[in-house]
Amino acid sequence: MNVDVLLGLQWGDEGKGKIVDVLTQEYQVVARFQGGPNAGHTLEFNGIKHVLHTIPSGIFHEGVDNLIGNGVVIDPLVFAAELVKLASVDPNAFPRLLLSRKAHLILPTHRLLDAASESAKGAQKIGSTLKGIGPTYMDKTGRNGLRVGDLELPDFQDRYEALKKKHLEMLRGFEFPFDLDAEEQRWMEAVQHLLELRLVDSDHYISDALRAGKKILAEGAQGTLLDVDFGTYPFVTSSTTTCAGACTGLGVAPNRIGRVLGIFKAYCTRVGSGPFPTELNNETGERMRQVGREFGSTTGRPRRCGWLDLPALKYAVEINGVTELMMMKADVLSGFEQLSVCTHYSYRGELVDRLPYSLEEQWVQPQFIELPGWNQDLTGMNRADQLPQALLDYVAFIEKAVGVPVTLVSVGPDREQTILRV
Ligand code: GDP
Ligand code: IMO
Ligand code: MG
Repeated sequence: MNVDVLLGLQWGDEGKGKIVDVLTQEYQVVARFQGGPNAGHTLEFNGIKHVLHTIPSGIFHEGVDNLIGNGVVIDPLVFAAELVKLASVDPNAFPRLLLSRKAHLILPTHRLLDAASESAKGAQKIGSTLKGIGPTYMDKTGRNGLRVGDLELPDFQDRYEALKKKHLEMLRGFEFPFDLDAEEQRWMEAVQHLLELRLVDSDHYISDALRAGKKILAEGAQGTLLDVDFGTYPFVTSSTTTCAGACTGLGVAPNRIGRVLGIFKAYCTRVGSGPFPTELNNETGERMRQVGREFGSTTGRPRRCGWLDLPALKYAVEINGVTELMMMKADVLSGFEQLSVCTHYSYRGELVDRLPYSLEEQWVQPQFIELPGWNQDLTGMNRADQLPQALLDYVAFIEKAVGVPVTLVSVGPDREQTILRV
């Protein structure tokens, strides 16, 4: 048995949560492999919307283990709040949740460092969600971090104090006022909730599950263009959001990766700073934002909107080894007479169809072609033969350009609003 990987191909918020929920019935294990509470994964069923930050999106399915892998960073405070919400929806869900001992902890001082560092950057700020992601991964690679497994050790408090001291010294380098005490107390209380969960040696858990022939779906957070190596650096997150992250974030050997499901929106969005060649700072972008309800699931910030970017999509497909594409939010494009799709960039005066080193506006101008739009309301459709021809042509154009089939089209936020093409 192999591990299938589901991940975002753009700048996050592609609709990963919804599709993980839809696909979970085919799996026995769903495992998050990176990111942390910067993620906001939305799923909807029975008229109710759920937003998950750290908890994997398969949690609402009975009989499925939901693992938070070693590559994830966990803020006990955010996590405890998620657990409370989860208990109100499904009081029996806790036993399905497993937490890697090797996952790193976000301390209150990590969040302060994130905020202080962003504030010091001024106009150059990343637009971070300020959840402490960057500083926590820095401590991980800097070999200073605290992990979930440390909570079980008798000297946890000493380890915590030592790291906090280091952080307080760093914070002195910023002009950034803060009040740590109340936050710290709540954090320590939240830590107790973590200890009530099933803590596991997740690498062994995954190996055993594979050996037992269980089907595993690895759930990515953020998107390929936010990857720390391959994204629009430095306007990225601090983890490996690409397929390789599933190997390091769960302990899966590369030759055990099976299907790679790449999720993309029929257009593009981005939240936070950084280059976005096809961005529409006009009425069309505003229409996408309003119709698509493009406001951040974690921070509520308006998402920047623009046309589909094929050079970026092709790059993401290549880097991840995507075997199937899933196109989200097709319904949002209904009613546009013409749809623009970026097929090339003019990069320093040359026409290119691959992602250049810099995507900054002064170097890159997107080149578009126009395709006919469709008028039909798609939100009530649930079969591929109901889809309008113009949409099928749009999909065929993407498949030809990228060389990978689109096996699913999503036409609304609900579980039911999902059309399989296989
Ligand atoms: P994720 O981070 O990739 O899980 O995506 P988010 O949950 O942050 O953002 C996707 C948003 O689009 C959520 O509000 C979803 O409910 C919504 N959504 C997902 N698929 C569709 C779709 O096909 N059509 C529409 N209109 N909304 C969708
Ligand atoms: P999901 O999993 C969209 C963006 C932030 C910022 C940059 C760095 O819901 O798709 P960070 O907090 O990681 O230091 O922020 O990355 N970002 C996301 N954008 N969806 C996400 O997650 C994101 N997680 C981080 O807006 O630009
Ligand atoms: Mg999101």
